[in-house]
Amino acid sequence: MVQRVAKGTKNAILRLLYENRSHYLSGEKISQLLDCSRTAVWKHIRELTAEGYIIEALQKSGYRLISAPDGVNEAAILTGLETKQLGHTIIFSERMDSTQKKALELADDGAEEGTLVVTNEQVAGRGRLGHHWQSTRGTNISMSLILRPRLPIEKTPQLTLLTAVAVADAIEEVSGLYCRIKWPNDILYENAKLVGILTELQAESSFVKAVIIGIGINGNTSPESFSGELAGKASSLRAITGDHYDLSHLIQVFLKRFETLYDRYLDKGFLAIKPLWVRRAASLGKKIKVRQPGGHVLSGKAIGINDDGVLLLEKEQGEITRVYSADIEW
Ligand code: BTN
Repeated sequence: MVQRVAKGTKNAILRLLYENRSHYLSGEKISQLLDCSRTAVWKHIRELTAEGYIIEALQKSGYRLISAPDGVNEAAILTGLETKQLGHTIIFSERMDSTQKKALELADDGAEEGTLVVTNEQVAGRGRLGHHWQSTRGTNISMSLILRPRLPIEKTPQLTLLTAVAVADAIEEVSGLYCRIKWPNDILYENAKLVGILTELQAESSFVKAVIIGIGINGNTSPESFSGELAGKASSLRAITGDHYDLSHLIQVFLKRFETLYDRYLDKGFLAIKPLWVRRAASLGKKIKVRQPGGHVLSGKAIGINDDGVLLLEKEQGEITRVYSADIEW
């Protein structure tokens, strides 16, 4: 198995502590493993403690990680990650403007397929169709995944639908909640939105250079955050089940599921994913309003998606229109 080495000594110490949570690790052992002084180990442990990690220190036995502060961290995502490639390179920072913006820059600089950009606090989160995406520190997942598929540009929206299936499956695995998907990719639980997905492209003529998939998941957001205007429109896993979720673990489960579906998709095409999306579709068969970029609004019945993932809308007069990009409501 490939050993994934966390960058930076402090991170590497954290990684060792995660991997050895069931027992104590002496300062000497850590310094040997990481080829650094025991003073450096002590200094980094003190920094981690100041950041909110509870680390038990016993003079004769060494250090043991008891708990981590709320939110995600690189070491926790890497420890026990079961993917072949996705998420092996993680760009993590406590605070970012937008993981999407950072991932686009990194992709421009040649970041490899599977690189994951993740933060605990996003101050300028971007949503679909120019919307702003709001998140609260340490309680949401804000991440962007860099992919480099060999696909014609017109097929890339299918990756958005695939992502929605992977997120909904991961949520079901960790929480038991069966979520539905509002076309193309909002994840809903009883009509309240739990997840937003934003897919952006870097391309040269008809050739895809990179696809950046941005995902925001309301994990441990407190129920009170969704009062007033947001009540009924947005919710979180915690607000629904009352449980507190390990967000790093949810990311691991998502990456594993995404990788399985992505491999299947690259091999067999969208027809291998379509039934999984349709099984969770919330909008099909409903009378909907379609708000297209530029403000044009259409009404009709959502009768399905075609084999390319495009929404089929039956208008009053029976005419069927294809919808490629829009916000829908009912
Ligand atoms: C939507 O409008 O529903 C899509 C929201 C996408 C939000 C995510 S959070 C991580 C990534 N970074 C961003 O700035 N946006 C996406």
